[in-house]
Amino acid sequence: MNLRETLDSLKQTLNNELSQAVSLEKVEKLRIEFLGRKGSISELMSRLQELPKEERPAFGQAVNAAKEEITSALEAKKNEVLEQQEKDFLESFDCTMQSRLPWQGSVHPINTVMEDICRILNDFGFETVVGPEVETDYYNFETLNFPHDHPARDMQDTLFIADKVLLRTHTSPMQIRAMKERTRSDGSIPHLAIIAPGKVYRRDSDLTHTPMFHQVEALLVGEKIALTHLRGILSALCKSLFGEETKVRFRPSFFPFTEPSLEADVTCMKCGGAGQVEVDGETNSCRICKSTGWLEILGSGMVDPAVFEAVGYDPKKVSGFAFGLGVERIAMLKYGISDLRMNFENDVRFLSQFEMGNSWRRT
Ligand code: PHE
Repeated sequence: MNLRETLDSLKQTLNNELSQAVSLEKVEKLRIEFLGRKGSISELMSRLQELPKEERPAFGQAVNAAKEEITSALEAKKNEVLEQQEKDFLESFDCTMQSRLPWQGSVHPINTVMEDICRILNDFGFETVVGPEVETDYYNFETLNFPHDHPARDMQDTLFIADKVLLRTHTSPMQIRAMKERTRSDGSIPHLAIIAPGKVYRRDSDLTHTPMFHQVEALLVGEKIALTHLRGILSALCKSLFGEETKVRFRPSFFPFTEPSLEADVTCMKCGGAGQVEVDGETNSCRICKSTGWLEILGSGMVDPAVFEAVGYDPKKVSGFAFGLGVERIAMLKYGISDLRMNFENDVRFLSQFEMGNSWRRT
């Protein structure tokens, strides 16, 4: 075989080999075999002197052209292999598959109820505010008209952190914080409608008490606010939470920061206020409300003038109402939870009862 024939057959061999190559490694191997320092093309060039002088330039050009041809053939094959590899990869899995498994958790009943309460009150125009759980005596008691050494402080078993620093025993300090923040420098009457959801702490632990629990505080301040406004809002809130047929009643109570103070009850959601339930044709007394037909759900009242004074509001010009409800109590009533402590034990058997299927969020 003369040199020209060798060159032609080289190209032929490469084309054959390339057409069968399916991996990048094989393409690289062929590149080294043909274009490498000791490859077929170099070898061919080194045999140039075998040719008569006049034929050498033409042959040299032919080899160079072949070299270029081989380079682009190798390059083309390399791209082809890469493309095929990508195609194979994309076909090897379902790229329309969801990026994670359907959600399987459940919203904690306390969070569900807390969010429900906040959403309803937000819809009424109350703005959500949050504040510290480690609170000072000043906000938790003093400005809320709990005088120092007054027995009213014993109503709340306080967890002190330091002298005059404590874990807040209720969300009512947020009343003071919100009012102080919105003082009007021009002396005009501030109007505010806020709710403050959050954790509160008391030195208490039994079937119906845990050292930490949740409250939602509400405060409305403006001109000529009366008890009837409180009643209207509470009634609408309870109907939304427990159903349209729910009724609200007030009983006189005492809180240092409201005057008058009222405890609010709702008609029992188990017996509908009848105090008794029918089971299999038998009439039994209702265990949820202990036959009274009513369930206590919150403390409330008209903002005490002393509280307005403590924040620099003129009690002759402003008036307001406040209420604070216990979230656990409402969740327990709504879902029939018998032991408050179950809420915080992280037992999946308890929690999975509130699973909402595969939906991302409760609507
Ligand atoms: N802070 C009171 C408590 O925890 C509840 C309350 C709030 C009462 C607002 C009246 C007004 O018992």
